[in-house]
Amino acid sequence: MGSLSELLFKNRQWAENNKKQDINFFSRLIPGQFPQYLWIGCCDSRVPAEMITGSQPGELLVHRNVANMVLDDDTSCLSVLQLAVEVLKVQHIIIVGHSHCGGVTAALNSDQYDGSLGSWLQNLKSIFQQHEKQFNLLSDEKERINLLCELNAVHQAVNVANTSIVRKAWKNNSPLVISSCIYNFGDGLLKKIGESISEPNNIPDQYQSLIQK
Ligand code: CO
Repeated sequence: MGSLSELLFKNRQWAENNKKQDINFFSRLIPGQFPQYLWIGCCDSRVPAEMITGSQPGELLVHRNVANMVLDDDTSCLSVLQLAVEVLKVQHIIIVGHSHCGGVTAALNSDQYDGSLGSWLQNLKSIFQQHEKQFNLLSDEKERINLLCELNAVHQAVNVANTSIVRKAWKNNSPLVISSCIYNFGDGLLKKIGESISEPNNIPDQYQSLIQK
């Protein structure tokens, strides 16, 4: 069983190892952060953003929640988006879903959860309902889960594109690109889903039907 002292021990080892390899590893982070990417991913413990992309501290701005969703009433997520776009001038926003997502599986199976988790998962159920015809063509549960993982990632990219934060940035000619990816546990690889969105009037065809105004 894990304990706090175990984590603190591992942290000391990590800090010492990094300082041994690079005396400036920590001191160079003090002046400020200049991340190139905003990563919006699932909070699943098997999808650690920095580790799977080989990134160092300072390279990724990360927001994670259950099933990587961007909702227009989630001030936590929107604050991170505003920080990324308006303050840090991040130019790449990546929505990262993943295989075997528990949130997606629960929504597909109509698992019942009380409270915040239950109402949060309703958002995934509504994506499922919008695409029910596509799901009816699939009988294999794995394929159904994969489809909802991908559709969810694409929907969330469109949600990002429709925020006033991103609209304003594009109006001011910021070269902001929004992409969707799926991380696969089977091989550890990130796969890009569909086209990236790079301007309001150029949302790729496959996204057009998803746009909610
Ligand atoms: Co997940």
